[in-house]
Amino acid sequence: MECPIANAVVPVAGLGTRLLPATKSQPKEMLPVARKPIVQYVAEELARCGVRNLLFVTGRGKAAIENHFDPDPALTRTLRAAGKTDLQVALDFERLGLNILYTRQSVPRGLGDAILHGESFTGREPFIVALGDSVIGLRGDSLACRRMAETFVRRRADVVIAVREVPRDHVRFYGIVVSDGDGDTFRIRTLVEKPSTQDAPSRLAVAGRYAFSPRIFGLIREVRPDRRGEIQLTDAIRAVAEQGGTVLGVRLGADEKRYDVGNMPSYFETFLDFAAADPDHGPRVRSHMRRILRRYSNEEGR
Ligand code: UTP
Repeated sequence: MECPIANAVVPVAGLGTRLLPATKSQPKEMLPVARKPIVQYVAEELARCGVRNLLFVTGRGKAAIENHFDPDPALTRTLRAAGKTDLQVALDFERLGLNILYTRQSVPRGLGDAILHGESFTGREPFIVALGDSVIGLRGDSLACRRMAETFVRRRADVVIAVREVPRDHVRFYGIVVSDGDGDTFRIRTLVEKPSTQDAPSRLAVAGRYAFSPRIFGLIREVRPDRRGEIQLTDAIRAVAEQGGTVLGVRLGADEKRYDVGNMPSYFETFLDFAAADPDHGPRVRSHMRRILRRYSNEEGR
């Protein structure tokens, strides 16, 4: 089914410093989450939502992402000769039906700046932004982006943000929204970037998926760099809300947890969750986990 918003921008140009040394010479978006690099789940999720055109905003050291999505005739021939049709199908990204394009953010000046690189791609059309280091739902099969696009069109919104409740001691990792009302869709009055546990206005966290009208570009241009020299997307969204624009939150469902590989603990948790849910190897992984947990609880009990 087609998505009412055809274009998606996927920023993948960040340095990934919180994951060093794993990200010294490979993009964090290529880190494996059980079977696949995380960015593959993102592309598959967008394709399933009916997005047609996907722009990766890449940067220095990110060539592995382009190599991953490019067809590889020699590998295909080898797999065919070996009768490995399942792998052949798994690697046939053309079946996703996405037009994949690339542009380059030469200097990683923050998420807001990365999105600006999508301006000539999206033109006057609304667009989705999906962070390349985050996946929604355990199999990456959430249709949240389509729901967001439908809400965007129906409510003539300026911005739609996917949000999900997080534990209070996790609010400091996320953008946290101040909402008007509850329910599945609600108006967002403003948002705060990574507040302390005490200062957080809610536990509703921005979940790495957005829909924007092209109006956002002008507002990103007005954002002043933060003390690290980065242009924060949150600042531009706050400007939309505070100028009376329609900023809506779409609540993710119970099976639409946001998994991300942005920091070590969340990468470890994401990998474990996906490995434990693997259709073939999950049972073995789960019994291994039980063994490990028993060992740790015996040691701790000593
Ligand atoms: P993060 O802020 O988590 O990524 O951005 P980062 O800057 O790589 O992380 P640290 O702080 O150094 O560990 C979320 C997404 O936005 C992209 C990242 O690649 C990631 O997919 N991003 C971030 C850009 O494309 N450009 C930027 O300048 C910053």
